[in-house]
Amino acid sequence: MSSGYEPSCAGDMVGWIIGESTSSHSTILFSPGSIGSVMVGSHVVTYLDGRCVLGVVESIRSGVPLLSADVKDTHSVERLVRDDMEWILDRSRYHHGSVRWVSYVDSLVERGAVDSPKIPPQPANNVFLAGKEVLRRIFSPPGESWMEIGSVLGGGVRYKIDVNRLGRHLAILAVTGGGKSNTVCVLTRRMVSSLGATVVIFDRHGEYSDLGLGVERAKLWRPAAVNPVSLSFGELIQLMDLPGSASVQRRIIRWLWTGMMEAYRRRVLGARDVLERAVEVLETAVDKMISGEKTSSKNPLEDAMKKIVGIAPDYKAPTAKLDQFLGVLDKFNDLLEYYRFAINPDMPTDIESIVPPGKATIMDLSMLDDIAADAVVSHYLRRLLRGRINAVKGIQAGEIYRYPVLFVIEEAHILIPKDEHRLTKVWASRVAREGRKFGAGLVIVSQRPKRLDPDVLSQTNNKIILKIVEPQDIRYVQSASEELSEDLASILPSLNTGEALIMGSMTRIPAVVKIDKCETETGGADIDMVAEWRQLREGEEVDLGEYAL
Ligand SMILES: Nc1ncnc2c1ncn2[C@@H]1O[C@H](COP(=O)(O)OP(=O)(O)OP(=O)(O)O)[C@@H](O)[C@H]1O
Ligand SMILES: [Mg+2]
Repeated sequence: MSSGYEPSCAGDMVGWIIGESTSSHSTILFSPGSIGSVMVGSHVVTYLDGRCVLGVVESIRSGVPLLSADVKDTHSVERLVRDDMEWILDRSRYHHGSVRWVSYVDSLVERGAVDSPKIPPQPANNVFLAGKEVLRRIFSPPGESWMEIGSVLGGGVRYKIDVNRLGRHLAILAVTGGGKSNTVCVLTRRMVSSLGATVVIFDRHGEYSDLGLGVERAKLWRPAAVNPVSLSFGELIQLMDLPGSASVQRRIIRWLWTGMMEAYRRRVLGARDVLERAVEVLETAVDKMISGEKTSSKNPLEDAMKKIVGIAPDYKAPTAKLDQFLGVLDKFNDLLEYYRFAINPDMPTDIESIVPPGKATIMDLSMLDDIAADAVVSHYLRRLLRGRINAVKGIQAGEIYRYPVLFVIEEAHILIPKDEHRLTKVWASRVAREGRKFGAGLVIVSQRPKRLDPDVLSQTNNKIILKIVEPQDIRYVQSASEELSEDLASILPSLNTGEALIMGSMTRIPAVVKIDKCETETGGADIDMVAEWRQLREGEEVDLGEYAL
């Protein structure tokens, strides 16, 4: 079978296949000097039928037969570990590894396609570190869609991802401080500056600012808000926290809002007026009911609407009791008071002005509570997904968003939680299911993977998993990703900040990668609390008495 492929697939020899092999797994006995150059996550090769097969080292176990786990005699151990006996230990020391065979090298390098061996690599065969040139061709392929984000750990080779595959979504998971926001920063900055990508970051903690991209390439909404005239009836109800049982109040609000929106469309009211006028209409109706004033239509709401706005919906206003009107009035007043940051008539209504194509749009949600953040995020997810569906299907009736867009949702376990309702979850699920066909990709970022909605998590075909320590989190992620074997997952607790296991269709094969440090610092660094308290102490000359260091 001629491959026509030149570079030597093999680097330094590191060991031999021992025990029984399968087509997917072998045990390796590593040569004594190879540990250090080969580590968990390293790529190794062996020959099979004259072709080179590439594998990933999933685990390494070291042992000394004389010091087996059931040794109980401390004296014999003391004798063995004496300096002059060290050579005995060294001679019998062994390193076993487990390798998962991934693909023939020629198909990976020539076609970028995985071609898994169907027969086992043979015991006694030599195993080598994968050659640098092979790794370079696999992990740094040429092509517009391949973008550098780091270096393969231990391999000295730059590492790229296929940005086109982000349409199959991505989860970025790690403990706090593991390097998630830095990864988002690297991805966004490079996609926007080198590919002119459109990225929306829902920034729960206000840590991204403009990512150093400047006004040319970034739009920062601080605080992120929705124009009241863009709110759907459902979003309005959600913000008002109206119980499902309050059906009469819902009917009042629907009628009132329909009228307000009609008045806005006919330019009778401006965006600034709709909420205030709605309150005025309700107050007038309530006043009339309290004073028992006779009205022409016997419907105080309709009368108040006609008097204040001049027009009313073309169907009859609901009749209700005074306390129901008072309830609705309270809800509107609460809305104006609590959500003054989330509802802003100065926000544009046109989606391409809010999320300009070819830029990073950062929606700072740090001033909003969870309910308001949910309303804002779901609002834009809904409009942008609809806009993409309309654009791709050529539907002229609704809003159109002309270019593909990526959504980054930080703190995704809060907005897309397991077992709890959120509007964001509804729309993120739709993006996860349908986004690929419409050029809408979802990036979920979380330090609590086990609290994420399992459907959305398992729809993310790509994963960047940085350090995770908690076994339950690891198991949960494993259950949502076929590629993450037990052995491979075992490296997650020992990863350092910025080191990640990367899997999915955006990489040709799984790799352990050191992500680059972002060119701009995001707000993730630990606060030096002690230094700040010292400044306070020194400024105010606080006497710590006997506790002073
Ligand atoms: N690849 C990297 N190279 C160098 N430094 C890094 C890297 N990744 C992260 N860091 C640094 O580590 C710190 C924490 O990173 P980051 O804020 O990205 O973590 P995080 O996972 O987002 O944390 P949190 O859960 O608190 O949001 C930052 O100071 C950041 O600059
Ligand atoms: Mg972060």
